[in-house]
Amino acid sequence: MSIAVRYYSRSGNTKAVAEAIADAAGVAAVSVDQDGASITETADVLFIGGALYAYGIDSHLKEYLKGLDGSKVKKAVVFSTSWISKHSIDLIKKGLKEKGIDVEDEAFYVKSKPDEAQLKAAADFARKYM
Ligand SMILES: Cc1cc2nc3c(=O)[nH]c(=O)nc-3n(C[C@H](O)[C@H](O)[C@H](O)COP(=O)(O)O)c2cc1C
Repeated sequence: MSIAVRYYSRSGNTKAVAEAIADAAGVAAVSVDQDGASITETADVLFIGGALYAYGIDSHLKEYLKGLDGSKVKKAVVFSTSWISKHSIDLIKKGLKEKGIDVEDEAFYVKSKPDEAQLKAAADFARKYM
């Protein structure tokens, strides 16, 4: 099974969740602005995450979603962190669906900085889709 993990994180909270998921999958967590972030080979599952900033997602993540080749992603699973609102999850799901990608209803969310138990929960959550 081919798994990819992509994220955008300004201060490291979402990155920590991405890394916990990537470790569970045995792949690298790749920031969407990094070289090699494009999905060029078909991914059975794309775990994709970002946070909320002033009611929106970061422009790097927005652009990444716009540029995704939907035919290369069989299913996407969303994760997010934010201070209060889970709107980032809706925005990421919307961007994926606009690309025709099948998106898992359930998403993984942490309020701000994840602790060890939440990182373990992220890995357990992700294993359900591997
Ligand atoms: C400039 C800025 C704006 C933010 N706006 C929101 C917001 O509108 N709603 C919210 O719930 N959290 C908001 N947050 C909190 C972040 O979503 C939260 O700290 C998140 O975990 C940051 O993730 P990151 O470390 O991966 O960048 C904001 C944080 C910053 C720095």
